[in-house]
Amino acid sequence: MSTSQTAEELYIEAEGLLSKGQVHEAARLHKACIEQDNSHLNGAIRFGNYLLFQNNPDAALSVFEQALTKHTNHNILSRGRLFALKDMRQTEAGLSHLSSMGHPPDMALTFGQLLAQKGDIGAANRAFEQAIKTPATAVTAIRNILQTAHLSEGRGGLNAAFEQLKKSYNHINILPLIGADFYREAGDLDKAFACLKDYQNRFPPHPETDQIYASIYIDKGDGELAYKHARQAVTAMPANPVSLMRLSQSALMAGHVEEALFLANKGMQADPQNSFWPAIKASALKSLGHFAEYDALVRVKDTVKSYDLADVAGYESSSEFLTILGQTLRRLHEWKEQPLSQSVRGGTQTSWDLRFEQSPVVRSFFSAVRPFVEEYIRELPDEPSHPFFGRRTEDFYFSGAWSVLLKSQGYHVNHIHPDGWLSSAFYVDIPDSVREGQDKSGWINFGVPPFNMKCSTPDTEICPVKGRLVLFPSFLWHGTHRFSGEQSRLTLPFDVRPQFS
Ligand SMILES: [Fe+2]
Repeated sequence: MSTSQTAEELYIEAEGLLSKGQVHEAARLHKACIEQDNSHLNGAIRFGNYLLFQNNPDAALSVFEQALTKHTNHNILSRGRLFALKDMRQTEAGLSHLSSMGHPPDMALTFGQLLAQKGDIGAANRAFEQAIKTPATAVTAIRNILQTAHLSEGRGGLNAAFEQLKKSYNHINILPLIGADFYREAGDLDKAFACLKDYQNRFPPHPETDQIYASIYIDKGDGELAYKHARQAVTAMPANPVSLMRLSQSALMAGHVEEALFLANKGMQADPQNSFWPAIKASALKSLGHFAEYDALVRVKDTVKSYDLADVAGYESSSEFLTILGQTLRRLHEWKEQPLSQSVRGGTQTSWDLRFEQSPVVRSFFSAVRPFVEEYIRELPDEPSHPFFGRRTEDFYFSGAWSVLLKSQGYHVNHIHPDGWLSSAFYVDIPDSVREGQDKSGWINFGVPPFNMKCSTPDTEICPVKGRLVLFPSFLWHGTHRFSGEQSRLTLPFDVRPQFS
C-alpha cells in the first residue's frame, strides 16, 4: 500500500490479496480504499462484511451507514446494516429497518432473531418456520427454534419443540442430524443416539453422522470410538474443519498423540485465528512430555495475569461499583437453563452480548477494564512467530462479553474460547467460601484439557477476589473448581481480538 494509490488501485490490490486468502491484509486495504474515497461501494461492502465476520458489528454499522448516505437503499448495504443492528441488539431499529426494506423473504431468519430478542417467541417461531423454507437459512432457523425453547422452557421445552418440528419437517434429512447435535449439546446423549439411528434408518449414509458420533463419544469420554468415527468422517470429508478438530481431540484421548500434534500444526497454519489448534498442540506437547516446547508455547508467567480494580469514574468506591454492577447483571440472568455448548454447569449465562448492554454501570465496566487490557498487550513479548504474541496489533476490540451466575456446586468445565485471542474472567461477586487456602473452592485453574491424558496437573490456579480481572490467552484451557454454600459466584468475562490479525 502506498499513500499515492487511488481508492480503485487500493481496492484492486485488496482483491488480489483476498483471492490468495490473505483476509486481514485485504481488509486493511479495503479500509484504506474507503478512507480515500467514501463513496467506493465495493470497498465499503467488503470492509463492512469483514467487520461483521470478525464479530465487530458496531464498526460494521458505521461503514454500512456511511456508505448508505452515498448509495441510498442499496440492497447489500441495507442487509449489512440490518445484520449489524441485530448483532448489536438494536432490536427496534433493526425491525424498523427491516420494515423499510419491505421484509424480503430471505430475511425471515433475521426477522425471527429480532423478534426473539424482543421476547415475542410465538412470532419469532413463525418467522423461523418461514426461514426453514429457504435452504440457506433452514439449519440456523431450526437451531434457533430449539435454542429458544431450551432457554425459555428447559429440557421439556426442547423436547416439545423437537417433536413439533418432526410433525412438519420429518421428511427433511437435516432435522434428525440437527436434533442429534442439539441433544448432545444439551447433554442428553441417549436422545442424540436415537436421532442418529432415526437418520440412518430413513436416509442414505452421510459422513456428518460420523462427525456427530465422534462428538458424542468425545463427550462420553470414549476416545477409541470417537477416534474411529472421526477418522471415518475425515476420510469422507478431508477438508472439513469440524471433522479435523474432532479427529485431533479423539486422537489425544485415544493415545495417538503424535497424530494430534501433526493435525494441530496443520490447523495452526490453515487457520491461525482459531484458538482451538494451539490448545490441542499444547495438550499434545504436555502429553508427550515435551515440557520445554510446552512452556515456550503457553508461557504462563507472561500470559496469565491478574489486575485488581481500584476506583471507577463516577462511583464512590470500587465496592459501590461492584454492588451496582452485580445488581444489574443479576437482572439480566433471565433464562432458566444453562446455555448449550458452553462450559457452565450448575448456573446460568446471559444469552446476549453484554458489549451492547446500555446500562451506565456496564458501560463503565468496559471503560474501567480497557487500561488493563492495554497494559497486558503492551507488556507481551515481541515474538512475531509465536501463535499468540505474534497476532498482537496496535489496536484491539472487545469481541464478546457475557455474565455467568454459578450456584452452590456450580463450576465451569475446562474449555477454551476458539474465537477469541485474549480471554478473561472478572469477578463481580464471590461467595465467602471462595478464599485463599487449601481447598481452592471456586478457584480458576489453567492448563488442564477436558479429557483424560497424562500430565493433567494445572499450570497455575488463581483465587477469585471481588473486583479482580484475570487475563489469559483464549487458547489456554481453563475451568473452575466447585464451591458450596448459599451465596452465588457472579462473573463478567469478555474476549478481545486484535484488529486485522
Ligand atoms: Fe472461559
